[in-house]
Amino acid sequence: MAIETPPDPAYSATARRLHWVTAGAVLVMVPLGLAMSYRGNTLDIWDGLTDALYSSHKLIGFTLLWLIVLRLGYRFRRGAPPDEPSLHWWHKAASHLTHWSLYALLIVVPLLGWIGVSLYPSLTLFGLVDLPALASPNEELAKKVLSVHGTLAITLALLACVHVTAALYHHGIRRDGVLRRMLPGLRRD
Ligand code: HEM
Ligand code: HEM
Repeated sequence: MAIETPPDPAYSATARRLHWVTAGAVLVMVPLGLAMSYRGNTLDIWDGLTDALYSSHKLIGFTLLWLIVLRLGYRFRRGAPPDEPSLHWWHKAASHLTHWSLYALLIVVPLLGWIGVSLYPSLTLFGLVDLPALASPNEELAKKVLSVHGTLAITLALLACVHVTAALYHHGIRRDGVLRRMLPGLRRD
């Protein structure tokens, strides 16, 4: 009788969906933030397109913030599957540190963006509705907050690159089950 290898422990379908939507949104938000800021601040073009880019950035970022709150709530309630058994203790420590740092940045970055546009103030989305204000106007402070927002967003992008490189290393070189935890449909070879 053939003995089947048990499947690797994987994240639930909901956790996986939340992970991939977050990853896709961050992948859009970083280049969008850089492009709109380059067009506005560097090229000094403040036309309808620049406004639309800023409004899209604010709308996606604001939505993403609530999605992350939902994801963290789910994570605290449901936990994660047990660590991949073949990992060394330092692999586990490094991945937990990276994951919790990503979560922290995924909350702090959009929150600082929202505080920044409240201080500026520049809360409008496409001239149709305003985001709720979190602070009273103070343009000088807005510039400082938005500068920290930009720096931490780049830090988030760099950390995500490290995270993706680690996932590909586990799958392609170490050939363990780490990537299948988020993509259980991947073949084992
Ligand atoms: C995870 C979510 C977010 C990411 C990854 C992100 C990323 C970025 C990046 C990479 C920049 C360009 C920084 C630079 O030019 O150095 C930027 C700028 C900006 N972001 Fe975000 N952002 C996020 C959420 C938000 C939110 C929720 C808001 C407001 C509601 C916001 C408002 C802004 C504004 C106003 C700027 C332009 C600052 C300027 O013109 O100097 N961002 N963002
Ligand atoms: C901006 C993009 C991304 C962000 C912000 C992100 C964030 C995260 C976070 C916070 C976790 C921890 C999940 C938890 O334990 O609750 C995680 C897990 C994971 N991510 Fe990503 N991720 C991104 C992109 C990717 C990509 C592109 C891949 C694949 C190439 C990937 C593969 C994985 C895997 C395999 C895990 C599970 C690791 C384990 O538990 O051992 N991620 N990710």
